[in-house]
Amino acid sequence: MELIFFTVLMMATMGLSTTTSFNVMQYGAAGDGKTNDSPAFQKAWKDVCLSKSVISRLIIPAGKTFLLKPITFTGPCKSKYIYFQLSGNIVAPNSKSEYKGYHVNTWLGFSYVNGLIISGRGTIDGRGSAWWPQPCLGNASPNTECRGPTALTLYRCYRFAIKGLTHLNPARSHITLTSCKNGVISNVRIIAPGDSPNTDGIDISGSRNIQVLNSFIGTGDDCIAISAGSSIIKIAGITCGPGHGISIGSLGTRGETDIVEDVHVQNCTLTETLTGVRIKTWQGGIGYARRITFDKIRFVRANNPIIIDQFYCPNGVDCQNKTEAIKVSDVTYKGITGTSLMDKVINLSCDQNLGCSNIVFDRVYIASAVAGMKVYSFCHNAHGRATHTKPNLNCLLR
Ligand SMILES: *[C@@H]1O[C@H](CO)[C@@H](O)[C@H](O)[C@H]1NC(C)=O
Ligand SMILES: *[C@@H]1O[C@H](CO)[C@@H](O)[C@H](O)[C@H]1NC(C)=O
Ligand SMILES: *[C@@H]1O[C@H](CO)[C@@H](O)[C@H](O)[C@H]1NC(C)=O
Repeated sequence: MELIFFTVLMMATMGLSTTTSFNVMQYGAAGDGKTNDSPAFQKAWKDVCLSKSVISRLIIPAGKTFLLKPITFTGPCKSKYIYFQLSGNIVAPNSKSEYKGYHVNTWLGFSYVNGLIISGRGTIDGRGSAWWPQPCLGNASPNTECRGPTALTLYRCYRFAIKGLTHLNPARSHITLTSCKNGVISNVRIIAPGDSPNTDGIDISGSRNIQVLNSFIGTGDDCIAISAGSSIIKIAGITCGPGHGISIGSLGTRGETDIVEDVHVQNCTLTETLTGVRIKTWQGGIGYARRITFDKIRFVRANNPIIIDQFYCPNGVDCQNKTEAIKVSDVTYKGITGTSLMDKVINLSCDQNLGCSNIVFDRVYIASAVAGMKVYSFCHNAHGRATHTKPNLNCLLR
């Protein structure tokens, strides 16, 4: 897949005749950071999407800043590849009142666009700080005053690439993939303050065959969260921190049936994150999370490096105490090293009835980052085996 995108990018760069380009400036965009350029982008998008060349390209030129109100770029389009060339910068409205009348979950949306390539050295700035002081607690419904929009959402996009961009300060999550297939996010920089609430880096849900590679993510919530309905997910070469680490879940919210499988996280460094690698499920859910591997992970002064939490319930809101639970199995942690700021470095808290099965640890060495502090592991109903692991995991049941 990388090869296809590379070829297309080459062709696009060389301006071969298979490509038709549309520049937002030709559609009346001001690019002054003040004028609402959404109407111009929408007009340009219409032509991009109707173009029948192999590659249809929307050019957002360098050296300019485009203010966009919430906007959705909708497909399907006629071209095999839609190239969204972000050389300039895109900024969001910087006050809540400018979102009045937009009943949206996302600021920049792409829906049903296949062969989408969003690429360039530009910046997407969600200017979301106005939303941060009063975050929603628990599972507040959409469109409430507390719930800001996700900055960038791809919905039902098949074959896509997002590369090279910088993403700043969203009102909520930076990038959300919902019901997408066959995509790669690579070489992006995702940045928001460590104390900005709900600013997940990349949320992946209902998606299949997705790779997130070689990127920097420093934000206020999960660097990457993989949730319900996702499978064949590869995360590699990620530098995460500040943030809440890399999470599977939360799954089973409000008793849902959720499934996540075949997730591989490798070659990642987590620095001073609030949690490290975590699988979190609510009580009362139905379904499973299985075949999950964490390989070659390095922790630098992380808090709570390794967690399986089948009693997830943040803020103590809407907590349940149910007999059903999401089944967690076939989880492997190997080649993991580093340091922890907390003494409890491994916490495997599994459901009373189902437990967690085939949890495998091999060559996991996590030391204390604090002089004189002893580290330890904690398990509750966790089944599996551990070899060459420190602190010892004698609490793991066979
Ligand atoms: C591991 O990730 C780093 C970025 O964090 C990257 O530079 C390096 O090439 C990766 N190594 C492998 C073997 O994938
Ligand atoms: C949950 O239910 C179990 C069994 O019904 C009970 O023993 C336990 O105390 C309950 N926990 C909470 C937090 O309510
Ligand atoms: C481990 O996590 C569970 C679930 O969040 C929590 O209730 C428990 O207190 C933790 N164990 C320790 C030793 O902190």
